[in-house]
Amino acid sequence: MKKHNFSAGPSILSEYTIKNSAAAVTDFEGTGLSILEVSHRGKEFVAVCEEARARVKELLDVPAGYDVVFLGGGASLQFCMAPFNLLNNKASYLDTGTWASNAIKEAKLFGEVDVVASSKDANYTFIPKDYKVGKDSDYFHFTSNNTIFGTEMRYDPDCDVRLVCDMSSDIFSRPVDISKYDLIYAGAQKNLAPAGVTLAIVREGALGHVERAIPTMLDYRTHIKKESMFNTPPVFPIYAALQTLKWYKDLGGLTVIEKINLEKAAILYDEIDRNKLFRGTVATEDRSIMNVCFVMNDEYKELESGFGAFASAAGMVGIKGHRSVGGFRASLYNAMPKSSVEALIAIMQEFEKQN
Ligand SMILES: Cc1ncc(COP(=O)(O)O)c(C=O)c1O
Repeated sequence: MKKHNFSAGPSILSEYTIKNSAAAVTDFEGTGLSILEVSHRGKEFVAVCEEARARVKELLDVPAGYDVVFLGGGASLQFCMAPFNLLNNKASYLDTGTWASNAIKEAKLFGEVDVVASSKDANYTFIPKDYKVGKDSDYFHFTSNNTIFGTEMRYDPDCDVRLVCDMSSDIFSRPVDISKYDLIYAGAQKNLAPAGVTLAIVREGALGHVERAIPTMLDYRTHIKKESMFNTPPVFPIYAALQTLKWYKDLGGLTVIEKINLEKAAILYDEIDRNKLFRGTVATEDRSIMNVCFVMNDEYKELESGFGAFASAAGMVGIKGHRSVGGFRASLYNAMPKSSVEALIAIMQEFEKQN
């Protein structure tokens, strides 16, 4: 039976990425070796890494004066690396969910943190809008897409101070005005590659302003200078990332991808709003187009596990909501075909008919 992978991350990758990555496991670009066993210093892999960085720049239209690096440690290490490299006295953070609050916790180890607004008291069901970022902050940090709660800031905010963003779960889902940002980071395991590599896009001028000593591995400048080859990088995830980046270009780039993403999310939200069994969990204007969270309406609460089983029997994978929200979460990352969203909608309609 066809499986429809709605997992929040690690998550669906394109067939193109999986097919080409699988082929490279057997024979990496005619070398007669597996990608899993080649030296990262060999010319073939150095070329892969260079091309992947160049394609990130091309796809996101990264202006001059920025560096693109592949790092280890997941997005969670960026919660620490960002303040390590950028926070001298004070930083401002927007608290929109679990990942944002994890980032806040780490930043507090390095200086004063001004949480400019939080929707925690409402279980992060909306994105706070009325907040002010003090001009005395070293930077303002926000999470563009809240993977667990299903809210998203699908715009690049104006800001008087340096702008830092965790784009782990919506990078490459839309065009971004990179020139507004000083640092963007994203774990790969949603819209890019298997887990194991983290992408960072850093404005050159943002670095070198903190007084503290920075351990070599945690200093962005180390990885920029050595073009992501200071130590052994995650070779296979970077190879897979390159395949995804090629696929994105073939699809027509981020404007086309955003249009498809908007369509996929719209048909699913329309069904949630129409279907008597379900309701969305977050403010309509803040709905994420990557992670669609929904629960059973109160009068149908007892049907929740039944719907889970029904969906799973129909090939739907990974739609159980995170424990802090409950209900269901369908993650519609770039590689998710519209036909899978339609398949989910069809079973929601079928379950409604049966109940
Ligand atoms: C928005 C966001 N930030 C950070 C993380 C943590 O990423 P990692 O597991 O790579 O540390 C996640 C993981 O799902 C995420 O969704």
